[in-house]
Amino acid sequence: MIKPITILGIESSCDDTAAAIIQDGRVLSNVIANQKVHEQYGGVVPELASRAHQQNIVPVVDQAIAQAEITKEDISAIAFTKGPGLFGSLLVGVSFAKSFALGRSIPIIDVNHMQGHILAHFIKEKNGSNNIPNFPFLCLTVSGGHTQIIKITNQLEFELLGETIDDAAGEAFDKSAKILGLPYPGGPLIDKFAKEGNPKAFTFGKPKVGGLNFSFSGLKTSILYFIQKQEKKNPNFIEKNLADICASIQYAIITILIEKIEQAIQETGIKEVAIAGGVSANSGLRKALLSLEEKGCKTYIPPFAYCTDNAAMIAIVGYYKYLRGEFSKQDITAQARLHI
Ligand code: KG4
Ligand code: ZN
Repeated sequence: MIKPITILGIESSCDDTAAAIIQDGRVLSNVIANQKVHEQYGGVVPELASRAHQQNIVPVVDQAIAQAEITKEDISAIAFTKGPGLFGSLLVGVSFAKSFALGRSIPIIDVNHMQGHILAHFIKEKNGSNNIPNFPFLCLTVSGGHTQIIKITNQLEFELLGETIDDAAGEAFDKSAKILGLPYPGGPLIDKFAKEGNPKAFTFGKPKVGGLNFSFSGLKTSILYFIQKQEKKNPNFIEKNLADICASIQYAIITILIEKIEQAIQETGIKEVAIAGGVSANSGLRKALLSLEEKGCKTYIPPFAYCTDNAAMIAIVGYYKYLRGEFSKQDITAQARLHI
């Protein structure tokens, strides 16, 4: 019998410590320890994140192995996030991967976190089939740190077509939420309140950025000035109009994203379109992407579990690199800034 390829994936680029087992492309376990410690600070505190990763990593990996109902001996290779991300946080994952691999005499595989978000579309469920994009496809990758349009030719070949020149889409959500006095991360809360509101209640200025690039900092400023002006007239403005404000902010962000992806479809002629990254969990964006089907596109939206940071997406990249024999050396290190 041929031994299955079993990859242990480790993700520690930001504030979640995650481990997953992928066997022959199928997910057997996907464990995430969220770090609650940052909530009181209104954002991720890098030093606290590193310390929490150090505490969480061994129990999270043990849990991933136990839930997958395998043993350490079954693991063929260990894949870890090399970057981009917080350097101290990444170091915990990289160092863990190196020692685990040395102890077990198995290869290590470095993974770009953004490639992980995209290849999340290729994770097969344990007992079932899923809808996988056909090559070449376009992916709108929207997270807390990135906003990119990428052309994907095969599992390991990527071409960056456009990206944000300032804030990321997730940052636009989180910074707008902060203006409204909502806790971090505000993206999911804006999504929640927007469901009850009118997206056309308030309008905000649109950025003028060339090509397939994005800009969100102007929108943030225009939201700030708008709120300050309204609060002078009515100190309870936010409280009284929260749903409409959230719906309007969400609509503005989604419009910027969808217009650029439509432009990319037109320029490349590619009609296979996917979204990935934390912001792809946004219900408004998911609906807007689906509407491209009416224009002859085939769209791909990841299951919620694979939108925000997770280790199954790192393990799946590891699986495809393993198939090609793309392993890393023991002198590999983390890289906070890493391009796709
Ligand atoms: O991919 P991710 O988990 O981490 C990074 O790699 O950055 O993305 C996190 C980002 C945060 O900015 C968060 O507010 C945003 O994704 N996010 C959302 C939603 N869920 C997560 N933004 C809008 N609506 C959501 N439902
Ligand atoms: Zn991410």
